[in-house]
Amino acid sequence: MDMELKGRTVLVTGGSSGIGAAIARAYAAEGARVALTYRSGGEDAERLARELGAGRDAAMAVRYSLAEPHTVESAVATVTERWGGVDVLVANAVRWAPRRAPGERFEDVAAGDWRGFLDDNLAPTLRTVQLVVDGMRARSWGRIVLISSHVALDGHRGQEFYGAAKSALHGFARSLAWDVGCDGILVNVVCPGLTATERVLTGLPVEIRERETLLTPTGRLSSPQDVAGAVLFLGSAANSNTTGQTLTVAGGR
Ligand SMILES: NC(=O)c1ccc[n+]([C@@H]2O[C@H](COP(=O)([O-])OP(=O)(O)OC[C@H]3O[C@@H](n4cnc5c(N)ncnc54)[C@H](OP(=O)(O)O)[C@@H]3O)[C@@H](O)[C@H]2O)c1
Repeated sequence: MDMELKGRTVLVTGGSSGIGAAIARAYAAEGARVALTYRSGGEDAERLARELGAGRDAAMAVRYSLAEPHTVESAVATVTERWGGVDVLVANAVRWAPRRAPGERFEDVAAGDWRGFLDDNLAPTLRTVQLVVDGMRARSWGRIVLISSHVALDGHRGQEFYGAAKSALHGFARSLAWDVGCDGILVNVVCPGLTATERVLTGLPVEIRERETLLTPTGRLSSPQDVAGAVLFLGSAANSNTTGQTLTVAGGR
């Protein structure tokens, strides 16, 4: 199946590590030009961009911080000026919330903390979509993949605000699909389950990973590459008429 990604331009936010890096590699392997964003990991991002072909202008690393609106604008502008536009947007960047202290109650989380968390995760993602849609409409082709989380579908103790930010993406995609569908633009959501990124492998206690594995029909956690495969399909010409949908990549959970 031809995904028709050769020469297409792809913007992967949060592409400097984890799932985003796997997505960037997957698009590059299909011949797309990939812009991957970082917030603090500039060196990692530059290294990955070199691996993916920065030397022949097939990849670039761009700074993009959800908490700094001007970087959202400048990241899209940089890609547009250099490569003529963004054909595929994968909105993957996330600002992680600090875990609540043991015993800290939901109702005691300060408004300043959770409002800032929602503002940072949701508004910049929607703004990024606004910025790329204009060019997609003009070219009558575009693919948008929003990375959500199993937490939006199943819930998870202590993750109310993360769940709120992620589940908003689902409603957003359902409605945006109507606005852009007749212009050749398809917008979908991918929901990873717990995924074996470096952050998860080093930060999550092994007992929790083992418990999660036992609860998974396929008997293993998803890899970043598993998630990238789903994104690649939805964010390519192989996806010809699926929009407003959510695809879960969680080994059957
Ligand atoms: N891993 C999982 O188990 C899992 C499960 C469900 C859903 N997800 C979702 O999958 C996506 C990727 O997660 P991951 O586990 O791969 O995360 P990760 O390894 O921590 O990578 C996060 C990426 O986002 C960037 N980033 C962090 N804070 C940012 C900010 N404030 N503004 C802009 N960029 C920022 C990071 O850049 P720097 O490193 O340069 O700061 C990095 O490129 C997220 O949307 C997450 O919610 C992950």
